[in-house]
Amino acid sequence: MPNNAVLKLGDKELTYPVIVGSEGEKAIDLRNLRADTGHITYDEGYGNTGSCESAITYIDGDAGILRYRGYPIEQLAEKSDFIETAFLVIYGELPTAEQRARFSALLTEHAPIHERMVYLFESYPRDAHPMALLGAMMNALSCYYPALATNDHKRDLENFDVAAAMALSKVRTITAITYRMSRGLPVIYPKRAFKYCENFMHMMFSDPYEHFDCPPVVARALNLILLLHADHEQNCSTSSVRMVASSGANLFASCAAGICALWGPLHGGANQAVIQMLEEIHATGDDGSKFIASAKAGKSRLMGFGHRVYKNYDPRAKIIGKACEDLLNTLGIKDPLLDIARHLEQAALSDNYFIDRKLYPNVDFYSGIMMRAIGIPINMFTVMFAIGRMPGWISNWKEVASNPKGRIYRPRQIYTGKTVRDYVPVDKRG
Ligand code: ACO
Repeated sequence: MPNNAVLKLGDKELTYPVIVGSEGEKAIDLRNLRADTGHITYDEGYGNTGSCESAITYIDGDAGILRYRGYPIEQLAEKSDFIETAFLVIYGELPTAEQRARFSALLTEHAPIHERMVYLFESYPRDAHPMALLGAMMNALSCYYPALATNDHKRDLENFDVAAAMALSKVRTITAITYRMSRGLPVIYPKRAFKYCENFMHMMFSDPYEHFDCPPVVARALNLILLLHADHEQNCSTSSVRMVASSGANLFASCAAGICALWGPLHGGANQAVIQMLEEIHATGDDGSKFIASAKAGKSRLMGFGHRVYKNYDPRAKIIGKACEDLLNTLGIKDPLLDIARHLEQAALSDNYFIDRKLYPNVDFYSGIMMRAIGIPINMFTVMFAIGRMPGWISNWKEVASNPKGRIYRPRQIYTGKTVRDYVPVDKRG
């Protein structure tokens, strides 16, 4: 493999180094290109641009491979749980028993939100979208815990363990309060005895006057959903977190940016859009065939299908598709949306339109059906994705904040507007 790439521009020949990642990923290092030539690279949507070096997650989109810190997602899905995986993603290694116990204790300690924050919820409309609230509340943590959010990376890193535990633990408390308030239900506080997922279900659904037990099958399903979302390298929301972090911003502010970026239907919002699509298909009595035809004609988009990086089956979709079926069987739920989803998948996977474009189900295709089955309302699906993605955002923030050579992220552009012209007074404007 060549160590350099040669660029010929006019009669100038320039040499740029090739850099290689630990899995053999190659890039041409063009950091000096503008200084050397006055040209920039143009790559709208960043499909060919490596914006950073990162040691967190590896994806091979052509082979359908996803690994967190080197561990295959299939092994983690089978053997680990969300909190252990979160530790792995954030700190780089699977925890020892003692590290795990300390991490869990920190999460438990920081589960409740500052009592005054509960009043913040009161001032939002009852029907506010949970993602809007989550973004606002994550950012608000910077106001309630300013010592952890100084916007001085050196100081913020000194308090990283607590700030990270707060972000990861409170995100679930904020979500549950949003749900309870939107329904006019009393807020339920976290319980020390419960583990992460059980505690979330308790804060969402338990009756304040009754004993609550989260069925193990539900806790397992939730653990799996969150674990599969824990990180996914430089996607739209994670890049947003890194972009904001690169200015020196604190962990909470940077994660709030990630939440906003995740909201859109082309990213995390797709899990909500999938269920809406399946419900619409179901309501018209279509088994999915008409919808496939309309997607091929460009009149609609098969939500939960396609991916910028995976040009093969998203490994998370394989795991979640199977888990979804198992969960529904165990709970004795017959969901017609699952039948439609299966039919859409089979039809798409044998159709040239989807084959030629390498469009396969992504993680969002089945996650919504699973979440419905455990009682999560549809407008909270993307929030669930955000809870799952917290470890990835936290870890990426840490990578940016600890990089001694870090620079502010500042892409350039090709300007296509008007060239210079003189100001026109208002009475002369036609
Ligand atoms: N349904 C029908 N056609 C599709 C779909 C789809 N879901 N996705 C892509 N295509 C088609 C495009 O129309 C385009 O066709 P053309 O070449 O004839 O113009 C071709 O496939 C390439 O699509 P792009 O939009 O250029 O692919 P891009 O990499 O920019 O977008 C994205 C990826 C946003 C995920 C896209 O596939 C999509 O919109 N999918 C549906 C939304 C979704 O599920 N998002 C979740 C992504 S995973 C995640 O964030 C967790």
